Amino acid sequence: MTRPGHPDAYYRRAKSQGYAARSVYKLSEMDRRYGFLKSGQAVLDLGCHPGSWLQYAAKKVGKKGRLVGVDLQPPGVEMPPGAQFIQADVLELTAKGVRGDTGIEIFDLVLSDVAPRTTGIKDRDAAASLELSEAALNLALALLKPGGSFLAKVYFGPGVDELIRRIKRAFKLGKGHKPEASRSASKEIYLLGRGLKKAAQAPEP
Ligand SMILES: C[S@@+](CC[C@H](N)C(=O)[O-])C[C@H]1O[C@@H](n2cnc3c(N)ncnc32)[C@H](O)[C@@H]1O
Repeated sequence: MTRPGHPDAYYRRAKSQGYAARSVYKLSEMDRRYGFLKSGQAVLDLGCHPGSWLQYAAKKVGKKGRLVGVDLQPPGVEMPPGAQFIQADVLELTAKGVRGDTGIEIFDLVLSDVAPRTTGIKDRDAAASLELSEAALNLALALLKPGGSFLAKVYFGPGVDELIRRIKRAFKLGKGHKPEASRSASKEIYLLGRGLKKAAQAPEP
């Protein structure tokens, strides 16, 4: 078992492959399984620092794709060519702000790996994570095209079941997934929505 804070195989692999974080293997596993990243897409990556999801997504969307990262802090790696970065708090970000800053009106995919600074108090950390994931979903409902996809991390706790129900109502397919690269001791799961229903598109969060 991996001790928290101790370099594991995923960490070493990320270093050797030039990725900014081991979290890239969570995204790559889910993308291999569900195939949501495609060439030419417009992708919004919430909580993008240090930047491994941006690095992976840039390869998948290619030169014709558009990639926007959002975080409280700038990426720790050079932004992939053509990608844009917005330094902002996801809890305060609006769809109008994203459109104004990027010139992109509509996205194919919204990713969120946003994680609160943990306190070790489980209920408090879960509540903070839920609030961030709900904000990510609200942004996705305002920015995704019909048929678009959403993937967000959340720490399991009270309120997550209702969030899953919201995703299932808004998308043709909604489900939870725990990637192999997610440490078994971690309470995180990823929620996936595929195929946004037109009627679920919501105005400004
Ligand atoms: C686990 S990291 C993301 C890792 C990233 N997916 C990668 O692969 O490099 C979580 C990120 O969420 C960001 N974050 C936390 N609260 C946030 C907020 N309110 N608004 C924007 N970003 C936030 C943190 O700054 C942190 O960089």
